[in-house]
Amino acid sequence: MQYRTVGSSSMKVSVVSLGTWVYGGEGWGLPNEREAGEMIRRAIEVGINLIDTAPAYGNGRAEEIVGKAIKGRREGVFIATKCGLQTRGRGLQISLAPSEIRKELEQSLSRMGTDRIDLYQCHWPDPKTPIEETLTEMVRMQDEGKIRFIGVSNFDEVLLERAVEVAPVAAMQGEYSLLSRGIEKEVMPICHRLGLGVLTYGSLGGGILSGKYQSRPVFRKNDPRSFFYRYYREPLWSRSAGLIRVIKEIARERERPPAHVALNWILQHNEVSSALVGARTIQQMEENASTGEWVLSPDESVRLESASEQCLTMVC
Ligand SMILES: NC(=O)c1ccc[n+]([C@@H]2O[C@H](COP(=O)([O-])OP(=O)(O)OC[C@H]3O[C@@H](n4cnc5c(N)ncnc54)[C@H](OP(=O)(O)O)[C@@H]3O)[C@@H](O)[C@H]2O)c1
Repeated sequence: MQYRTVGSSSMKVSVVSLGTWVYGGEGWGLPNEREAGEMIRRAIEVGINLIDTAPAYGNGRAEEIVGKAIKGRREGVFIATKCGLQTRGRGLQISLAPSEIRKELEQSLSRMGTDRIDLYQCHWPDPKTPIEETLTEMVRMQDEGKIRFIGVSNFDEVLLERAVEVAPVAAMQGEYSLLSRGIEKEVMPICHRLGLGVLTYGSLGGGILSGKYQSRPVFRKNDPRSFFYRYYREPLWSRSAGLIRVIKEIARERERPPAHVALNWILQHNEVSSALVGARTIQQMEENASTGEWVLSPDESVRLESASEQCLTMVC
């Protein structure tokens, strides 16, 4: 496993880390808590040292699973969780109000049975709460020793500029893959300039970039892939076929899994500290964890770049 420093912070994280949205249990979810715990322990054994979770994943279920799994293995593991997105009835509510995130922090600490969160991230921007108020509260949490590093997620360049005026933000989490390059033009260069590390989510496009689908899968309504990742819908689904073909070609030539090709493309961007990847099985997690054992050649990168651009330009 390779490790990278997160921006200008002192955090050094594995280039592939473990996402836990799928542990939430809804729709897409991994129903078996025991398997999820085993996967986390195995991930730590193979060198993954960053585990990303959130209260919104299964209304606390994912955090509880993480907490149980890391008992006795806490040292050397970075636990990243989030605030500001809470389950309310059958929906979700965004609030980064200081009193709300304070309550959320205490709940996350208690669910995970720990006295500190290593990376505490604003999950989504909250247009109703000035970011300065949220981050002032997060700096207080940091001064109290309850959180080690401050992170943000899904922020645009304007919010990022405001955020660093108030707090020492270490990382920005954003959707990034060969199928979703929205953060590449503005957000990634700003992160680089401001000294923030980038953590990518949806790194495998929710699974599609593993190249495993022969035809478009149909998901249940409450499966996040039916509404969150747009490439499972037309027109992007059909237009991604050329890109998937190139990924598979390179994988065949290199005798490596297609998922490695997609993740290696992300990791060749120096702004990226770690690719967050979810997994339904231990086998998937292990496959993803060994991504950093090889790198794409310049020619392979050009082939991927042009296939990705073609697919995304056709959609715009
Ligand atoms: N900050 C945010 O707003 C935000 C948003 C989304 C996600 N996240 C975080 O980022 C993490 C990663 O994103 P994600 O889980 O949504 O998407 P992802 O990592 O792109 O896709 C994960 C899914 O792909 C499939 N998969 C993984 N490895 C595979 C392999 N080697 N071969 C074949 N299939 C494989 C598995 O699903 P199947 O087996 O069912 O195909 C797995 O659940 C999340 O878990 C979460 O921690 C954050």
